[in-house]
Amino acid sequence: MTPQVLTPSDLQAILDFTVILAKTAGKLILDGSAAIHASSGDSDVSEKKNSVDLVTEYDVKVEELVKKEIQTRYPEFKFIGEESYAAGSRPPLTDDPTFCVDPIDGTTNFIHGFPFVCISLGLIHNRRPVIGVIYNPFLEHLYTGVKGQGSYLTKGSSAPLKLPLSSLPKPLPSLSQALLAVEWGSDRCEKTISAKSSSFGRLAGDPAQGVTGGKMAHSLRSVGSAALNFALVAQGGLDLYWEIGCWPWDVCAGIVIAEEAGGLVTGSHDVFATTMATDQFGEVTEEILTGRKYVVVRAIRGNLGETGSDAQKRIIKEFYDTVEDVETN
Ligand code: IPD
Ligand code: CA
Repeated sequence: MTPQVLTPSDLQAILDFTVILAKTAGKLILDGSAAIHASSGDSDVSEKKNSVDLVTEYDVKVEELVKKEIQTRYPEFKFIGEESYAAGSRPPLTDDPTFCVDPIDGTTNFIHGFPFVCISLGLIHNRRPVIGVIYNPFLEHLYTGVKGQGSYLTKGSSAPLKLPLSSLPKPLPSLSQALLAVEWGSDRCEKTISAKSSSFGRLAGDPAQGVTGGKMAHSLRSVGSAALNFALVAQGGLDLYWEIGCWPWDVCAGIVIAEEAGGLVTGSHDVFATTMATDQFGEVTEEILTGRKYVVVRAIRGNLGETGSDAQKRIIKEFYDTVEDVETN
C-alpha cells in the first residue's frame, strides 16, 4: 500500500474535525459528571488493575462515540484508545494515520468532581505524533497543536492564545526555581512508591536542612491528568512534568502541543543518557512514545552562553540526577 501523505491542509481539516469531536465529547463528559454527582453510591465506578485504577461507564461511552465518529469520517485511519486497549483491541503502531485517544484523562478527578479532566485526542502519522487536541470541558480550556504549525489555548469563546503564553519564555537557572509536576500514578507497589516518595522528597527538600541531594524546588504539583500536565507545561504554568507508568494515549496529544510551544520531550533516564549528545535528542521516536516514561520541559529563554535547548537539556539532566528510575508495571 502506498504510504498516505497528509498535506498541511489535510492536517488543518483533521484538526477542525477533531476540535468539534472534542467539544461533542466534552458535553458527554459533563453529563456524566452530573449523573455521577446526582447518584447515591459509587456503583458507576469500576476498578481496572487495582482500587485506584478507575473507569466509569462514561470513559467507555465517550470512547465509543469518538471511535464511531472517526471511523465514519476517516475510515482508513487506525485507532488506539485507552478503553479499546483495556477491552483487548491492541493494534500495533504502523506508518498509517492513527488516532490515539484517551476519552477521559483524569478519571479519578472526574469521579471526585475535581475539575482537571479532559479528553485527549492525538493523531500519529509515520509513527510520530502530528496533531494534538486536549479539551477540559469543566474549564472550557481547549489546547490544540499541529506539527510545524504552532499550538494554542482557547478559553471558552475567546480568541486563541499562542503557546507558550509568555512571548519571551523565562530563563530557568536550576530546579530550585521550578514548579514541577509529578504524579503518584496507579502502581502502588512498595518499590515504586518508595522510589517515587524519595524522589519527590529530594525535589522538594532543603539541602541546608538535612535533605541529602535536596533541590528545594518552588513546589510540586499533581494535577491528576497527564494530558493537562503536558498542556500546562506548554502554556508555561509548569516548568517540567515527569511521569513513569502512563500510556501513549495519555501523552500523544500533549507531546504535539508542548513541542509546538517550544517544549522538549524525552523518555526514560536511559533514553536521555543515550540521546542527549546526538542529533536525535528531542525527537519523540516510537520508542519514546510507547516507552511509558516521559519528561517534558517548557520553552526556556537562552542567553549568550547557552541556547534554550541546552538549558532544557541541563534542567532534564539535573532532574534525572535527582529522581530514581523504576520499572513500569
Ligand atoms: C491517568 C492520569 C494520571 C496519571 C496516570 C494516568 P486516566 O490517566 O493521566 O495523571 O498519573 O498515569 O493513567 O486513568 O485518568 O486516564
Ligand atoms: Ca482515561
